[in-house]
Amino acid sequence: MSGKIAVLGCGTMAGALVEGLISAGTVRAEDVVATARSASHRDEIAKTLGVTTSGDNVAAVRDADLIVLGVKPYAAVDVLDEVSGALKADATVVSIAAGVTTETLLRAWQGNVVRVMPNTPVQVGKGAFIVSPAPGADVAAAKVGELLESVGVVATVPEKLHDAATAVSGSGPAYVFLVAEAMIDAAVAMGLPRDQASQLTVATLAGSAELLAGGEHPAILRSQVTSPGGTTAAALAALEAGGVRPTFATAMAACRDRAAGLS
Ligand SMILES: NC(=O)c1ccc[n+]([C@@H]2O[C@H](COP(=O)([O-])OP(=O)(O)OC[C@H]3O[C@@H](n4cnc5c(N)ncnc54)[C@H](OP(=O)(O)O)[C@@H]3O)[C@@H](O)[C@H]2O)c1
Repeated sequence: MSGKIAVLGCGTMAGALVEGLISAGTVRAEDVVATARSASHRDEIAKTLGVTTSGDNVAAVRDADLIVLGVKPYAAVDVLDEVSGALKADATVVSIAAGVTTETLLRAWQGNVVRVMPNTPVQVGKGAFIVSPAPGADVAAAKVGELLESVGVVATVPEKLHDAATAVSGSGPAYVFLVAEAMIDAAVAMGLPRDQASQLTVATLAGSAELLAGGEHPAILRSQVTSPGGTTAAALAALEAGGVRPTFATAMAACRDRAAGLS
């Protein structure tokens, strides 16, 4: 997807997306205008991303072919409403706001609207994206998907599954970071120096992710590390007794339901 891009609310998530796309060479910094409320934040964006910044959402969208709505969910409709009169008729609006439905967004602007749920690993070109087009926006969504494939994996899902998928990949990095923290702290409690505990944990997570990416079922990979009556079996029994599976099921359902409550 070529053309000019306006990023309305270039905060943590939208900034990571822009950084990933520029690093991948799919988007040129000179084609991006990013907005934020505070002047100090705009200065920081200009310095770190090298894009043009503005405090004026309406001016930012005038020439834009792709508009990323990067503000918090509660502000998404207001910002789309604010710029709707200045949007090009054939522009595509990508909303990354958790829980805000295309039906709600279409009330503010009746054009190509696509919901996308990114995640922060996009910053290093390893994102996971959920794409759900509004009715009539399938072609626009396919183009958005092509762009995002340069910085990660894209799953196009019907909008009714968007919040459930958000519980997997949108919030998923936080679960992994929590597991990492727990492993590092447990290692330190057993006497390992923190830097070694951290180095070993990170390498284990990265290596395991690579094995998983090979397509083998997780249970098979797990059984390869688990000798009968051995050390890993003892650890896994403790994790199961601690309710790791039902806790994940409850946590991810809570995430999905919270997303649905944001719109
Ligand atoms: N964080 C994640 O991992 C993640 C993952 C998936 C999706 N999301 C979605 O991404 C969106 C943003 O989340 P975030 O964590 O990136 O929040 P954030 O860091 O607070 O970013 C929001 C940005 O919007 C700007 N802003 C607020 N009101 C504005 C307005 N009226 N016009 C222009 N800019 C405005 C803020 O500017 P100032 O800084 O100047 O106030 C800030 O830079 C949310 O809708 C969330 O659901 C986040």
